[in-house]
Amino acid sequence: MKHADILIIGSGIAALQLASHLSNDKHVIIITKSKLNDSNSYLAQGGVAAVVHPNDDLLSHVHDTLVAGEFHQGESTVYEFIKDGKRAIEDLIKAGAPFDRDENGELKLGMEGAHEYHRILHAGGDATGKHLVQYVQEKLGDHVTIVEEEMVYEVVRDKEGRCIGVKTKNAKGGITRYEAPHTVLATGGVGGIFETNSNQSTITGDGMVIAYLAGARLGDLEFIQYHPTLLTIGGKGVGLVSEAVRGEGAILINQWGQKLMKGVHVKEDLAPRHIVAHRIYQERQKGQEVFLDISSIRDFKLRFPSIANMCKEYGIDLEKGLIPVAPGAHFTMGGILTDHVGRTSVEGLYAIGEVACTGVHGANRLASNSLLEGLVYGKRLAQYLTFVGTEDRLFDSPPSKMMETFPAISLGDLKKKCSHALGIIRNKEGLEEFQQELQLAYEFETGSLDGAAVADIKGYFTWILASLMTKSAILRTESRGGHIREDYPHPNQNLQGKRIVHECVNGEMKVYMDEYVKAKNFA
Ligand code: SIN
Repeated sequence: MKHADILIIGSGIAALQLASHLSNDKHVIIITKSKLNDSNSYLAQGGVAAVVHPNDDLLSHVHDTLVAGEFHQGESTVYEFIKDGKRAIEDLIKAGAPFDRDENGELKLGMEGAHEYHRILHAGGDATGKHLVQYVQEKLGDHVTIVEEEMVYEVVRDKEGRCIGVKTKNAKGGITRYEAPHTVLATGGVGGIFETNSNQSTITGDGMVIAYLAGARLGDLEFIQYHPTLLTIGGKGVGLVSEAVRGEGAILINQWGQKLMKGVHVKEDLAPRHIVAHRIYQERQKGQEVFLDISSIRDFKLRFPSIANMCKEYGIDLEKGLIPVAPGAHFTMGGILTDHVGRTSVEGLYAIGEVACTGVHGANRLASNSLLEGLVYGKRLAQYLTFVGTEDRLFDSPPSKMMETFPAISLGDLKKKCSHALGIIRNKEGLEEFQQELQLAYEFETGSLDGAAVADIKGYFTWILASLMTKSAILRTESRGGHIREDYPHPNQNLQGKRIVHECVNGEMKVYMDEYVKAKNFA
């Protein structure tokens, strides 16, 4: 049994930002499933968007965020996020964070898809996440303990249903119970449950499932973002090629050299991600290879050192100026429903970063708004937890029956089927077929996972996520945001402002449509 004032699960930028803003009289434990740097934040190439140039303005960034999110957002939620984002970035700049600057010492501000303005800050060229994560890690004091290689598999609750900590398993199956009055989930999205994705392989939605099983509400699970350009070798996505590459002038072409985005959208190669991803998907369906033509970018290797290294590793000759690409799962817009500071519907349990559904991204996240989200919500939650303090709790939890049966479907099969049924193009038939297979493979039950093997827990968690996401995708009878419903190719005004919510009530999976304050369409 280990005790902390604040437990943080996950080690990306949201987790680190929170820990670095908590005062050193609080004992903080960060628990991560693998190594400290195995987070999606560490992989982030593209940068972080913020209004720091005097000619840029908050409303422009708000507008771009709403347009990308297809107005599936609360306007004031987005405004507050962008405003706090500006402040969080200004704080980092003042404190000396290593953002890239030009020869005159001015911040270099890049362009990415669906932005009206050059407002993307980078660090280390295309290694922004790594540099930012390392910078914030260095700020952590001795009051922060880091525990690696332990998978959190259960949120522990007291008799009143309040969260009082978590249980973890290590590789040998050893169980540790951690207790704290405040537990924060910052475990990232669900990218790792798709066959082709840009995520760390360990990012598989665990935080969402343990929160769900503890009674927290999940929402917007149908909205998955597919990044248009993953380096693709032998049909398999092997790593991200940042949108910043197109921001610097690269264009998408097919194997005959024809421009893919010409006439598709006014912004052509810098159109919103789902439009670019869909266009590449269509072209590949015809059996065409798709390439990023980088020949117009001077000093590519200097500007994008990580991407150049990755291409070299996979035998791509950059002198030819062509990088083979295809879309892959990238970001999860939905997640654990939270309020503006990260509180979930379970007392004592919080969620920040990609695992949370705060509503700021709507149906599709704007490029480079994800590190920003982690920075904003990490800081807000630190301020909130400092304000409420840490009261003493009785750490007793009622026992629950042991789980004995697990889904009769392999993890590999689940991933393949998720990628197929829940991919960028969906339809009722494919979704219902997958739903039926999931139902045949398992009858949902809940209980203690203390005696379960880690492999069974992973299968159980993935089955739950696949079931919830499929249900949401069936109910979302429109094309909005990251995906296209073949059978409902347009947005449906009646579904704008409606969120599909999942809740586990007394061991039963409940789903319903919820209303929220929607954005005004001021495009
Ligand atoms: C990219 O570099 O294209 C990814 C950045 C992001 O997802 O915002």
